Amino acid sequence: MCGIVGYVGSKQAYPLLINGLRRLEYRGYDSAGVAILGTDGLIVSKCKGRVSDLEAHVNGTPMAGTVGIGHTRWATHGEPNDVNAHPHVSTNGDLALIHNGIIENYAPLKEELISRGYKFSSETDTEVLVHLIDDIRRNEGTDLAESVRLALENVVGAYAIVVVDRNTPGTLVAARKSSPLVIGIGEGGDLFLASDATPIVEHTRNVVYMEDGEIAILDREQGLRVRNIKNQEKRPSIQALEIQLEALEKGGFEHFMLKEIYEQPRSIRDSMRGRLNLAQGSIVLGGIKDYEQRIVNAKRILIVGCGTSWHAGMVGEYLFEEFARIPVEVEYASEFRYRNPVINEDDIVIAISQSGETADTLAAIELAKGRGATILGICNVVGSSIARQTHAGSYTHAGPEIGVASTKAFTAQVTLLTLMALMVGQRKGTIDGARYRQLLLELEAIPAKVEKVLKTEAQVKYIGDIYKEARNALYLGRGYSFPVALEGALKLKEISYIHAEGYPAAEMKHGPIALIDEEMPVIVIATHGASYEKVVSNIQEVKARKGKVIAIVTEGDTTVKEIADHSIEIPASPDAFVPLLAVVPLQLLSYHMAVMRGCNVDQPRNLAKSVTVE
Ligand code: F6R
Repeated sequence: MCGIVGYVGSKQAYPLLINGLRRLEYRGYDSAGVAILGTDGLIVSKCKGRVSDLEAHVNGTPMAGTVGIGHTRWATHGEPNDVNAHPHVSTNGDLALIHNGIIENYAPLKEELISRGYKFSSETDTEVLVHLIDDIRRNEGTDLAESVRLALENVVGAYAIVVVDRNTPGTLVAARKSSPLVIGIGEGGDLFLASDATPIVEHTRNVVYMEDGEIAILDREQGLRVRNIKNQEKRPSIQALEIQLEALEKGGFEHFMLKEIYEQPRSIRDSMRGRLNLAQGSIVLGGIKDYEQRIVNAKRILIVGCGTSWHAGMVGEYLFEEFARIPVEVEYASEFRYRNPVINEDDIVIAISQSGETADTLAAIELAKGRGATILGICNVVGSSIARQTHAGSYTHAGPEIGVASTKAFTAQVTLLTLMALMVGQRKGTIDGARYRQLLLELEAIPAKVEKVLKTEAQVKYIGDIYKEARNALYLGRGYSFPVALEGALKLKEISYIHAEGYPAAEMKHGPIALIDEEMPVIVIATHGASYEKVVSNIQEVKARKGKVIAIVTEGDTTVKEIADHSIEIPASPDAFVPLLAVVPLQLLSYHMAVMRGCNVDQPRNLAKSVTVE
């Protein structure tokens, strides 16, 4: 939700900022803007739309300067337009500020500033910050960093902010609370700043992840200084970035989403690498090793997440219950935190998040931590807030996911949950030895099977072409395939804007069956396994009402093929691993239908990749 970049150094800031904003555009694309401090003073350019619209808008304006900030917005307060775009500027034109987050007490602050003569031009919550800092600086005579610190003492909410001041050339001041900020330390005094490491990696691998409550001063002459909100100096801890630059490019694919779908054999392998040892028949998850016994002894596991990560959590519920015989509750993080849930000290809470920044998931972690539970994280983004707030965890190692619709993160999350559940089951003795070894072999074979599923793309595209004008779609699955049905429906609606619902197949006759007619595509996961015959009956019920059935079936299936309108084969696999295979054709189906409908699949309307607001 909103992307922030900043630069101080000896190079021209504008091209660096634009490149950085392109990398961060997945965080929001309602508007974009930059402020450059140079020989022509403080120049601000901003407009509604994407980074490419900003470039067109800037065209011709001199943007010389070696200090600057840039912003790409996902609107919360105030509609996406030129005025509400960041940076926001103080009335005297001295300060420009960018912000990611929400200032919850902006209304009383605004009222107070208005009563003191400040004029607001935008409808944003952010604008109060720039006037407040300006007010303190002028009345207290404090320098920029101290004015920012004093201003933030009055602020309630979440923020990552960066301020540039034309009276303090060569310096940027940044601060964070609940919204991420990473600082890059380059050669020759170059300092970079961004919402995540993707704009930084091409310049330097040395980074500092800012902590909540910290204020950073990035100064061309004096380098980086970090203070806490109480004004105590802190020693920044420099870490090495591991992201590869190629991982941030499309690599010949038309869209990031398609590239990421195709990366899944690799990303699933990477999430098992060094963890699954077939020769020894062992699973070792280094990140949670110290907590293994606690998980084995757990009377209950709570899984929290949002969206696709919540769907992965649902698969996790089935896995832990089947293999480890531990009761599991899967919670939407947003509901969990506001419901006064019962949390016991011996509960294990698993927080799942691709970005590691989702505000609701972070808040759920805080709540559970406060009640004494053990919190484990499954995150993709290394160094992210959730990864740092949990007691322990395992990274999914899927690599940067840039398409807004989550694909490879889902399969990597499910892979990790599978490893965890099998590991705990083996330690508890709830899976017998022979079955355990067989399951490890089957799991190891999954990446090669995903490669095979990807070969169905042409067939999936052909089917997508037939149904691309559909107005509604229904996704059905049972057992392990029910969360896959939910995930398939989410993928279709978020990128193609076709209304889609996922249901447990048996629930269809309790309501949704009323929707079925000749127009309605019904996508059914009907693979061989525990509930195959029941699902076949559900397909018959759809066909009896003239619905169109697209079935995901096991290779060699004949029964469903005879009754379904279309069937897509996936290799045979134990029920528990079907989600890792069955989701792939559903991702491809959504992708192709969205492309054929002319939708922007990597940046669907109204969405952002990293939901850092509640
Ligand atoms: C759907 C999607 C979202 C995210 C959700 C949680 O394709 O991407 O539903 O899954 O916003 O995000 P993370 O996993 O970053 O916490």
